[in-house]
Amino acid sequence: MVRVMDDSESAATSELVITAFLEGDSWYKKPDCVERLNGDRSGNTLVGMIGKTIDCMLVAEAEDGELVGAIGVVYSDDGPAHLTMVSVPARNGRKGIGKSLVKAAEELAAKHGKREMQMSVVSSRNERLLVWYEQQGYSRIGSEKPCYWTQVIQECHVGQVLYQPMHKVIFPSQDACH
Ligand SMILES: CC(C)(COP(=O)(O)OP(=O)(O)OC[C@H]1O[C@@H](n2cnc3c(N)ncnc32)[C@H](O)[C@@H]1OP(=O)(O)O)[C@@H](O)C(=O)NCCC(=O)NCCS
Repeated sequence: MVRVMDDSESAATSELVITAFLEGDSWYKKPDCVERLNGDRSGNTLVGMIGKTIDCMLVAEAEDGELVGAIGVVYSDDGPAHLTMVSVPARNGRKGIGKSLVKAAEELAAKHGKREMQMSVVSSRNERLLVWYEQQGYSRIGSEKPCYWTQVIQECHVGQVLYQPMHKVIFPSQDACH
C-alpha cells in the first residue's frame, strides 16, 4: 500500500531514503554523491522540506507494516509536477515497489490537476535508471546537462555528473493512492 507519510514516520522514512541512495548497484553516485537529506536520519530535515521543496512524501507499507519505500512529490509549482527521492532499499528491491510509488505519485499529482510529470534523472553511469523510467512511460527531453546540485553531488564533482530531463503526460485515474 502506498500512502502519505505521517510526520511520526519521518525518521524511518529518512533512513529508507538515505539507505536506498547509498547501497545497491543501480545508482551513479558512489564516488560523486553526498548522502541524501544531508545524512539526517532524525526526520527533521525531511519534515522541514514538506510544504517547501516538496508537497508530499508518500511511503510504501508492506503487509506487516514495515515501510519499504518512499517518494517525494511536488505538485504546487506552476507547470508540471515533479518526482524526487524515489527510494526502495535493495533488500526489498525488484518487487515492483518502485513502480507502485511512481504510479501513486502520478495519481496524486493528477488529483491536484497536473497533466504532466517531469523530473531530472541523474544519468551518468545510470542508463538503467533512465530505461526504468522509460518502461513507465517517461520520455527523455533534449540532451543531458551537467548537475549543479550540491545537495546531491559533492562540491568537487559538481558540473561533472550529468542529468537527463524526463517527462510523462499523466491522466487522472480511478485508483486512489491513499
Ligand atoms: C530505482 C529504484 C527506486 C527501483 O525500485 P524497485 O522497487 O527495485 O523497482 P521495481 O521493482 O518497481 O522495478 C524493477 C525493475 O527495475 C529494474 N531494476 C531494479 N533494480 C535492478 C537491479 N538491481 N538490477 C537490474 N535491474 C533492476 C529491472 O528492470 C526490474 O524489473 P525486473 O525485476 O522485471 O527485471 C531502487 O532501485 C532505488 O531506490 N535505487 C536507488 C535510488 C535511486 O536511484 N532512485 C531514483 C532516483 S531518480
